[in-house]
Amino acid sequence: MSILVTGGSGYIGSHTLIELINKGYRDLISVDNYSNSNVSTYERVEKITGVVVKHYPIDLTDQNSCKLLFEQEKIESIIHFAAFKSVPESLANPLLYYRNNLDSLINLLECCQIFSCHKFIFSSSCSVYGNSEELPVTEKSSLGIPESPYAQTKFIGEGILADTVKAHQLLKVIILRYFNPVGAHESGLNGEPASARPNNLVPFITQTAAGLKDKLQIFGGDYNTKDGTCVRDYIHVSDIAEAHILALNYLEKMDKPIDIFNLGTGNGVTVLEVVKSFEQVNKLTLNYEIVDRREGDVEAVYANNSKAYKLLGWQPKFGLEEMMLSAWKWQLYLYEGN
Ligand code: WQD
Repeated sequence: MSILVTGGSGYIGSHTLIELINKGYRDLISVDNYSNSNVSTYERVEKITGVVVKHYPIDLTDQNSCKLLFEQEKIESIIHFAAFKSVPESLANPLLYYRNNLDSLINLLECCQIFSCHKFIFSSSCSVYGNSEELPVTEKSSLGIPESPYAQTKFIGEGILADTVKAHQLLKVIILRYFNPVGAHESGLNGEPASARPNNLVPFITQTAAGLKDKLQIFGGDYNTKDGTCVRDYIHVSDIAEAHILALNYLEKMDKPIDIFNLGTGNGVTVLEVVKSFEQVNKLTLNYEIVDRREGDVEAVYANNSKAYKLLGWQPKFGLEEMMLSAWKWQLYLYEGN
């Protein structure tokens, strides 16, 4: 019986495939529509692990393709990464986000019912907390008003899962709320897929440092934070990947139909602190300017991660410095034409 990793050629999906293989898992199937990644990722996974992952080019918003996959493969559990994830892009194109992120989830859950797949791990996001009054946020913190359609799709997705487990007793679900995944694999051979127009802060930083962008724009310098820039909880992508293995193990013994875990370091860091750390560890000077705020941004969010530590046994290994070093190492690898 296989583990289906959706979005397996993407950033977090590919790092999770690597960790699954490192932990001895072999019956793995990955699907992706390559909208935010490239099929060449699987070659990098093979280069790092020596294992070829079976993969299919599937758009999960297509119900028939989903069903065909489950007819062909005996799938026991699903780790569902595949989704669009850019805050600004979701504001510009909300229907694309609702269609993609929700249709794919619903199609998968229907297949779970039809083909008796009862274990499901869902990629959610700290963005469901909105502008929380309570910091650090725990899994019990009240969910704020999602500040973007992207955040809304994660909020609605969690609701779909909560309703579905009530109606289908055999299904067990773990929701993982990622804070801000950054960094790259320690080998320097895998990282965030290159994108001419990156969505997030750290790829913008590394592309500016590499001269691919002439200047980093820091969105907002007038927030009520220590230096006026937004606070986030940056978490190494390999720590996020490790949490998925622990969540798979936990699903076997979980005594409730659904549970939620924050995946963050617990450290709130400002945008300027990230920039300074990047400059210091990589001995570079970054060209940046502080501009107006970006619509959809929350002022500050960072995790109380004690529940994941207590129940999953998860403890982040990497600090901000390693995140910045690995991100730069990956950018250089890309820059050399890999
Ligand atoms: C971080 C901070 C920006 C770019 C989203 C999702 C989250 C996760 C990561 C999935 C903000 C500032 C950014 C730039 C900047 N997705 N910034 N200049 O929006 O916090 O989180 O992506 O795993 O779930 O919500 O991430 O990296 O876009 O922004 O100043 O060029 O960096 O304003 O304060 P975000 P981000």
